[in-house]
Amino acid sequence: MTFYRNAVWFVKGLKEYTKSGYEAAAKHFVPGDLDVNLNGRSFMITGANSGIGKAAASEIAKRGGTVHLVCRNKDRAEEAKLDIVSQSNNENVHVHILDLSSPGRIWEFAENFTKENSLNVLINNAGCMVNQRQMTEDGLEMNFATNALGTYILTNALIPTLKKSTDPRVITVSSGGMLVQKLNVDDLQFEKGTFDGTMAYAQNKRQQVVLTELWAKQHTDIHFSCMHPGWADTPAVRSSMPDFYEKMKNKLRSEAQGADTVVWLAVSAAAAQQASGQFFQDRRAVSTHLPLAATKPTAAEEAQLQTALNQLADKCKPASS
Ligand SMILES: NC(=O)c1ccc[n+]([C@@H]2O[C@H](COP(=O)([O-])OP(=O)(O)OC[C@H]3O[C@@H](n4cnc5c(N)ncnc54)[C@H](OP(=O)(O)O)[C@@H]3O)[C@@H](O)[C@H]2O)c1
Repeated sequence: MTFYRNAVWFVKGLKEYTKSGYEAAAKHFVPGDLDVNLNGRSFMITGANSGIGKAAASEIAKRGGTVHLVCRNKDRAEEAKLDIVSQSNNENVHVHILDLSSPGRIWEFAENFTKENSLNVLINNAGCMVNQRQMTEDGLEMNFATNALGTYILTNALIPTLKKSTDPRVITVSSGGMLVQKLNVDDLQFEKGTFDGTMAYAQNKRQQVVLTELWAKQHTDIHFSCMHPGWADTPAVRSSMPDFYEKMKNKLRSEAQGADTVVWLAVSAAAAQQASGQFFQDRRAVSTHLPLAATKPTAAEEAQLQTALNQLADKCKPASS
């Protein structure tokens, strides 16, 4: 089954996830969807100092939105801010320093942020593929801590603030790589068997898709979506997947092409008219499962994921939050 899923996925990727896949899909984009004035709307983008996050932040700033860049490294964040301000002529770009692999700090950050700011749109973009099994200072596996638990805590901590704003949205940058994984709630931190960073990452991205569906059911006044950017030429792809990068570098999308559906989901009126909780690729809702891949989780497994994340999230919550 693993071989079947990987093979079907890769063939699909060559057709759809590449630069030529984007160009073919873009012929069907509705002109004007991104002609939006975002003055007065506030956007938070994690991992916004490079790649898809930075490209999305820049497009949002160009349309007049207030942009909160949430990054773990101050120098890289300040440099990105300068670029975004100069590209957009928009001074409403703010840097916040947060390491998303540190659950306690996420709670504190969200508490402080919401004291002073409103928020219309959260874009969960930060992500990592760490190829060795590496533990955080809290004893969590690094991919799980950043991609799954970090995304979960930040979103949950900001939901009350999002609910106070108009047209609130949450977009999570998942990956088409999740199509090869069935949700596995028995080994959330990859303690069993041989560790494989690519599969750990794909499992986290599957978890993000399941969480998006659950959030959509539980919070009907917020529009949730997740998406696949395609295969884009970014620092993460170069450093975490060097062999893939070498083979595919001439076929990869630009960062802006990878960010296009993030921007569309975040700003367009058309996106908000789509049902909440879906998975998007090139401005279209697409299936979250490959044909005959046997990757559909049960409702019990989905609930077990949320229970496990809630338990870890509560354990890391500072007394003040
Ligand atoms: N590029 C693709 O082909 C592709 C395909 C599918 C999905 N994606 C997804 O797209 C998203 C953006 O990735 P990218 O390709 O644009 O790569 P990127 O340019 O390397 O961006 C990743 C961002 O996440 C940040 N980040 C990683 N760990 C973090 C942590 N613990 N705390 C805070 N920030 C953290 C990075 O910060 P630093 O700069 O400090 O490392 C960086 O800003 C990711 O979720 C990725 O999984 C990308």
